[in-house]
Amino acid sequence: MTRTIEPKLGVCYYPEQWPEARWAEDARRMATMGIGLVRIGEFAWSRLEPRPGQLEFAWLERAVDCLAAAGLEVVLGTPTATPPKWLVDTMPEMLAVDAEGRRRGFGSRRHYCFSHRGYRAECRRIVTALAERFGRHPAIVAWQIDNEYGCHDTVLSFSEAARMAFRVWLAQRHGSVEALNAAWGNVFWSMEYGDFSEVELPNLTVTEANPAHWMDFRRFASDEVVSFNREQAEILRRLVPGRPLIHNYMGRSLDFDHFAVGGDLDIASWDSYPLGFLEDRIPATAPRKRRYARQGDPDFQAFHHDLYRAVGRGRWWVMEQQPGPVNWAPHNPAPLPGMLRLWAWEAVAHGAEAVTVFRWRQARFGQEQMHAGLERPDGSPAPGAAELAQVARELAALGPVTTERSPVALVFDYRSAWAWKTQPQGHGFDYLDLVLDAYRALRRLGLSVDILPPETESFAGYGLVLIPGLFAWTPALRAALAAHEGVVLIGPRSGAKTPDFAIPETLPPDLPAELLDLRVTEVESLRPDMPLAAEGGAIQGWREFVAAGPAVRVLRRLAEGAPLLLAQGRRHYLAAWPDESLWKSVIVELAALAGIATQPLPPGLRLRQAGNLTVALNYGPDPVELPASLAQAELGLGARRLEAGGVAILGRQRG
Ligand code: GAL
Repeated sequence: MTRTIEPKLGVCYYPEQWPEARWAEDARRMATMGIGLVRIGEFAWSRLEPRPGQLEFAWLERAVDCLAAAGLEVVLGTPTATPPKWLVDTMPEMLAVDAEGRRRGFGSRRHYCFSHRGYRAECRRIVTALAERFGRHPAIVAWQIDNEYGCHDTVLSFSEAARMAFRVWLAQRHGSVEALNAAWGNVFWSMEYGDFSEVELPNLTVTEANPAHWMDFRRFASDEVVSFNREQAEILRRLVPGRPLIHNYMGRSLDFDHFAVGGDLDIASWDSYPLGFLEDRIPATAPRKRRYARQGDPDFQAFHHDLYRAVGRGRWWVMEQQPGPVNWAPHNPAPLPGMLRLWAWEAVAHGAEAVTVFRWRQARFGQEQMHAGLERPDGSPAPGAAELAQVARELAALGPVTTERSPVALVFDYRSAWAWKTQPQGHGFDYLDLVLDAYRALRRLGLSVDILPPETESFAGYGLVLIPGLFAWTPALRAALAAHEGVVLIGPRSGAKTPDFAIPETLPPDLPAELLDLRVTEVESLRPDMPLAAEGGAIQGWREFVAAGPAVRVLRRLAEGAPLLLAQGRRHYLAAWPDESLWKSVIVELAALAGIATQPLPPGLRLRQAGNLTVALNYGPDPVELPASLAQAELGLGARRLEAGGVAILGRQRG
């Protein structure tokens, strides 16, 4: 669990987009800036194979050698996110199909369907050729497979290839069509099938399709991503010995099980665009969006750092870090001065082995010509360049960084995201938003958090474990819960279904009475203008009516009297979706019970424990003082009064 890391800085580079005469100078400037890693190649298929079978790898080799000559290490991407036009024209049915049945066209990227066996064969061919040529190149230290699975809504494809593959997958999962009918409850509305070959995809139905049908389709689609990735991983394992395999995941990307993909890789990485995310992917009030427009949400990146640390079983990178305005959000403000530095330090504090900026030089052409890089299109340094160079100096001065087990754990489960997307039972019931609310509450109280996958078999070592919104128990989590002696918070909506998407026979939360003797007898979703007052705050959006046995104590109630927070020993159940202040007061109470110290932080200030160091980050637009609890801690970097976008590093508090 304890890891000591010497973080590296890197950059994404597209030699194929710039004259070769420029490469050596680019490499020299990268090295001077303190960059050690360069990711290349992930979209270069049309240059690597301009005509079928005509492989042109010499230019890539010259590019790698040129970077290596400047002392840089290379991460080589497989180019399968951008199949070239000639390839698509040989098998047009490889294109993905959207839920409305429209074929997704050529002319951008990620236009393939994961289920198309012909395209998979083409991927295996190009990856084998690349790995045979470059697998033992001494400068190539890691391989990235494909690029951002699921970006542009590309996991679910409603193609003929998907339809055929889904039927095979269903037959394997259920064994017989009778078993499928029983598992899905197809007697409802006469949906029973006589054979697997009768099953269609769940799109284009008159009204909603059976949620069990959707759930299996989502499981299938996730498995297709896993097997697509595995095919490349198996080739690379053989041909690129000793080089770690990586994929770059995204923010708020839930359509496939990242833990399952990560199981075939060595390192998880993700692409962090804090300002784009705040504009585009995070529900927040207008004043909050305005307040953080130039800094990004104070918790969204941190959550993903923790999530991907879990996906990578401890090993993770930021593969793409926003350096300036992006091009793809509704509005694209420039970061406050210092934010690239803060974002890099936040990643390092969470245990990143590398932070790689997207991209070296802003492109002059193509879809992303308005996306900032470390250099402007004319080669002059953009504001991010000096900040990255500063981080490089600071990292060198600080030396290795350690990460340890956090006191608090939060279970995260992709299947739950699919389940509640399929059946929200109320507008706004979003699994990630529920988990993020809990995570924010923990961070606002100064706590560092570990994320745990649903296959976790033991909670040992964690004082407090949160399991919000878990669709269905896994055998592992049931066992972990039964054995754990620490404080646990379950709910809302946890154990609400069986894995087949039925209501548990004994009602949610589907736990034996000796663990938690209560039943959720009814639920209601609430309009945004229907909050209900409670002890310590209010609830919003979701509420459950609970009947409890004699072993259960009611710790908190709604103002109207109904039980809200219940406990049996150290196991707790939360029967609603709390607002910010209720989350805070519940966590303060449970952390105290677990013997974990909390400290409410000023708005925008966040702390992260990295071994014996505390990293303090000010996301707020105004200066902020470090809390009194850190008064005795030795200052290693920064000041006790943090400017907007400021970073301070403190030794662990003495005494
Ligand atoms: C990522 C992607 C990059 C680039 C970047 C722009 O999603 O991996 O290739 O498009 O966004 O912000």
